Amino acid sequence: MKTDRRTFLKSLIGFLSTPIWYPYRARAGTLVSHPIVQNVGTDCATIVWGTGEGGSSAVRFTRDRGLTRSAAAVARGFPPADTDLPAPYYQHKVALTGLDPNTDYSYAVFADGQGLAEGDGLNFRTSGAGRLSFLAFGDCGSGGAEQKALAERMQQERPSLVLPLGDLAYGRGSFEEFQSRYFGVYREIMKRVPFFPCLGNHEYMTRNGFPYLALHDVPIPSDLPDTDRGRYYSFDWGNVHFVALDSNDPLERAVQGSGPMLEWLENDLRSTRKFWKIAYFHHPPYAGGAHDDDPLSALVRSHVVPILERYDVALVLSGHEHSYQRSYPIRNGAIVRDGEGTVYVTSGGGGAGLYPVSPNSRVMFGRSVHHYLQAEVDGSRLALRVMDISGNEIDRLVLAPSPRVSEAGVVNSASGAPPLAPGTLISIFGRNLATEDQQAAGTPLPRELSGVSVTANGELLPLLFVSPTQINAQLPFVLRDGAALRVRTANGVFDTPVIVSESAPGIFAVAHQNGELVSGASPSRPGEYLTAYGTGLGAVTGPIAAGEPAPFAPLLTARLPVEVEWGTARLRPSFAGLTPGRVGLYQVNFQVPAQLPSGQQPLRLRVGDSTSQPVPVPVALD
Ligand SMILES: [Fe+2]
Repeated sequence: MKTDRRTFLKSLIGFLSTPIWYPYRARAGTLVSHPIVQNVGTDCATIVWGTGEGGSSAVRFTRDRGLTRSAAAVARGFPPADTDLPAPYYQHKVALTGLDPNTDYSYAVFADGQGLAEGDGLNFRTSGAGRLSFLAFGDCGSGGAEQKALAERMQQERPSLVLPLGDLAYGRGSFEEFQSRYFGVYREIMKRVPFFPCLGNHEYMTRNGFPYLALHDVPIPSDLPDTDRGRYYSFDWGNVHFVALDSNDPLERAVQGSGPMLEWLENDLRSTRKFWKIAYFHHPPYAGGAHDDDPLSALVRSHVVPILERYDVALVLSGHEHSYQRSYPIRNGAIVRDGEGTVYVTSGGGGAGLYPVSPNSRVMFGRSVHHYLQAEVDGSRLALRVMDISGNEIDRLVLAPSPRVSEAGVVNSASGAPPLAPGTLISIFGRNLATEDQQAAGTPLPRELSGVSVTANGELLPLLFVSPTQINAQLPFVLRDGAALRVRTANGVFDTPVIVSESAPGIFAVAHQNGELVSGASPSRPGEYLTAYGTGLGAVTGPIAAGEPAPFAPLLTARLPVEVEWGTARLRPSFAGLTPGRVGLYQVNFQVPAQLPSGQQPLRLRVGDSTSQPVPVPVALD
């Protein structure tokens, strides 16, 4: 048959626009667990699926629809004796790496080079900075009508991630129950949204949680013993630090001194700098109902809650009580004002039969109802909605933690201690400050960064850096004996008085003339000139506004007399004043005397009547 040129082009275009590069063929009966996405991070994701056969398998993926990248799967076979399934089960797992944050990816699943029909047209989004949303629910895996109706409602949501709160597959957390009552029910959500679960008591009823552990891929903390791996973990998403705990066996062992979970929790919360900290686990510390006397809830209250509150965890999610319950804000067991304590939410209405709510003095609101939680985190505000099976909102909660400055938390940035002199670079330590880390882009320094501002006696301070736990700023050069410092965020203000003195020097570092820091590996030598960099030397010999870099000409020198005390030596500096081109930074230049003994001698700056902290400065005489 002859074909004219136009028809040929038309057929070619039609050919190119048809997705035939990857032929898909149904493999009915082969795929026993549909592809889902797990353990998504800023640059990684895991795709998992299950078949009844082994063989080579892979995931093809890209940011666009071309599916030009490929990654081979690792298959793990489970014989029926291990799974209670009627036939062998093969789990295929691919860890995708090198992804970009906050980016949509398409993926498709292949077996023996053939695309699986159920594994086509899938997508997920990596985590990253900015807003996020999540769903949470517990005690879901009944396989009943209520669970499925809630799952259908949740399919209409567009969460970044989902937090299942334990008891995911009744009654014993077996492989078959996980397939039919968990992965099967949430498949439409799981293929595009990662679930980050925790273990309930029912997960432990089959081989100490073996099916749960085998079927989930979660972040694994380093240095955990094999007994604990996969049972508790933490991860960051946007400006939230999520912590999933296991309130079953690992908690009991930790309380008895034979397990590391509580020590790990303390270290984990101490090391995060995220604005939001959200913890979740199965057994609720504060809820009233059928499990009032559960000894594991008592262990949570006595051993987990104090750690969570010490590190200002804002929200704690649990299940186990088959109802919805929300606590008052709580700190050290007492009810406190909004924004000043931890709120404990129990969400155990994910599908299993409901329990009545009984009174609990710390519970503000409770209802025996099937539901799920829907949360939006936008900067320093978290809005939580509780949705029932008919799509009605049955509770709403907004968390907006107000800024707090620590006791004696305003210090000279160099010495780490009060008091403070005019013009000093200061650090303010606290919590609920900025929503994320942000550095000033340049000079003159901004008066607001990431929604945070600071005033001293009403005057806005120039800011160098802000984070959820620290602010670096400069005090004005004109300031009276005392100053009222006010930190303002979108959620409120915190006032704290600070003591101001004429001079209050602190030393950042001592450097050679070439800029290299003086250290044990690079000691000072007699006769050379050194520079001590610091802040807090007070007034200078010319006008300069806070936030502005010091001029190169004329140099601005310190008005008060400055002396270098080094061991027993008293040295007159060749220069003491503001470092040209820098904001709030002073430098003191001096010559290393001949009479110092070899070794480390403490060096201090004396400015007027004040003396800096000592810093060890080594001298070598050879
Ligand atoms: Fe439970």
